[in-house]
Amino acid sequence: MSNQTAWLDKAVFYEIYPQSFCDTNADGIGDIPGIIGKLDYIRDLGCTALWLNPCFLSPFGDAGYDVEDYYMVAPRYGTNEDLANLFREAHKRDMHVLLDLVPGHTAVTHPWFRESMKAEKNAYTDRYIWTDSIWEVPQGMGCIRGISSRDGSCAVNFFSHQPSLNYGFYRPDPDCKWQQPMDGEGPMATRETLKDIMSFWLKMGCDGFRVDMAGSLIKQDEECKGTIALWQDIRQFLDREFPGAVMVSEWGEPDKSLVAGFHMDFLLHFGPSHYNDLFRCDEPYFSRRGRGSAREFVAAYRENYAKVGGKGLICIPSGNHDMDRLARRLDQEEMKIAFAFLLSMPGAPFIYYGDEIGMRYVENLVSVEGGYGRTGSRSPMQWNKGVNAGFSAAAKEKLYIPQDESGDRPDAESQSADPCSLRSEIKRLMALRQKHPALQNKGDITFVSDGYPLVYKRSYGGQSITVVIHPADEKAAVPDVGGSILYKLGAALRLEGGTLHMDGPAAVFIEK
Ligand code: NOJ
Repeated sequence: MSNQTAWLDKAVFYEIYPQSFCDTNADGIGDIPGIIGKLDYIRDLGCTALWLNPCFLSPFGDAGYDVEDYYMVAPRYGTNEDLANLFREAHKRDMHVLLDLVPGHTAVTHPWFRESMKAEKNAYTDRYIWTDSIWEVPQGMGCIRGISSRDGSCAVNFFSHQPSLNYGFYRPDPDCKWQQPMDGEGPMATRETLKDIMSFWLKMGCDGFRVDMAGSLIKQDEECKGTIALWQDIRQFLDREFPGAVMVSEWGEPDKSLVAGFHMDFLLHFGPSHYNDLFRCDEPYFSRRGRGSAREFVAAYRENYAKVGGKGLICIPSGNHDMDRLARRLDQEEMKIAFAFLLSMPGAPFIYYGDEIGMRYVENLVSVEGGYGRTGSRSPMQWNKGVNAGFSAAAKEKLYIPQDESGDRPDAESQSADPCSLRSEIKRLMALRQKHPALQNKGDITFVSDGYPLVYKRSYGGQSITVVIHPADEKAAVPDVGGSILYKLGAALRLEGGTLHMDGPAAVFIEK
């Protein structure tokens, strides 16, 4: 891989859900000029890169994860030229931008799908996975049937309005003639089109992609060998034509995704990562009640970390548009300690917009654009104490999603001015991370203890920093940690004769 991606070693990402970030034309929906206007705010926090959720033309049945035109920005966000301008403005500030690439499925309104539904054979007949008869459904996949003149059922990838693009089958069933091999003509045409889409945006100035459901492309591929081979081919193409293109996968199996050519993989909130034992369960580890457990998380992380063997990065997000806000279970003080953890772990941290001020999950909302229970984590950003929290000048009823109505809702402006706020604490942590290579993305980690407190050593190039994370409101002592304190959070703590004593919740970084 190329040294043009060296910026990743220090990168901290900020995820922007464009519809909810900042609205500049008073239609109640965020837009790209709004994002550009807030770049300085994001840079000031300490983030150096953005992940933008899908911003392409879409019927918005899944908030844009149902693409209708991969080459066009949805008018509600602006124009392609606005997006190119965002890339330029980000680069001026030494920031980078990843777009969200949704390679596994499209919207039913995509012109490819409209063509593919036709009975007559055409260039898009094999663009999706179709059985040969309406009476045959693709096993274990869910399908769309009965709306096409074509006699067949079309496999879906996620919601039932998201038809599966056809990249072929790793082990096609010889009894199902419609299952095409991954090097078949139709699957290869889909793959080449994917490369074309990537080229289009990379040429325009984007720095890479977060890839949606990256592990899902080749079917009948239990060990993902086919999907890995497909992404390796794409990586080769990128290395040849866009060596600076950065790829992060929504996959959750870094041993596979990094071999496939991704630079980074997300720790997922589903599957075996135990990530949400820390933040989103009845007794989260980061609650001051101190009844949670980090043990399973640490075991799973260690295993993945060993498998990755320094080949790439594991990204830990503070949250994202698919999970509950951190603030649903943790208060602002608890979140400060959670961020001391998030910002002292290896891999690239991702901060979900608004998590830096502890935005709340808005309860009891009617689903918006396929959000369902996720809608409460997607409410408009709270910038200040003005109308609609400074998000939009539209009438309140026109806002994309209703906002947190509580009188004490957090906002960015107040928190920026308050040195004791969550945002200010995060800003301090970010600055510290930028200063010390041992705390950065490639610094090594060794866990010392996985209870209360959680203790780990970060090291890089001769520097060694011990991190002590103690969310529980109870006394604790950690022996053998003598050195100088780089960072401390928590009222009652002291370092005596190489032992750290804490009387309650604390986070401490000690350099040896
Ligand atoms: C994962 C995305 O994060 C989620 O929001 C979306 O609904 C599904 N993939 C389907 O694209």
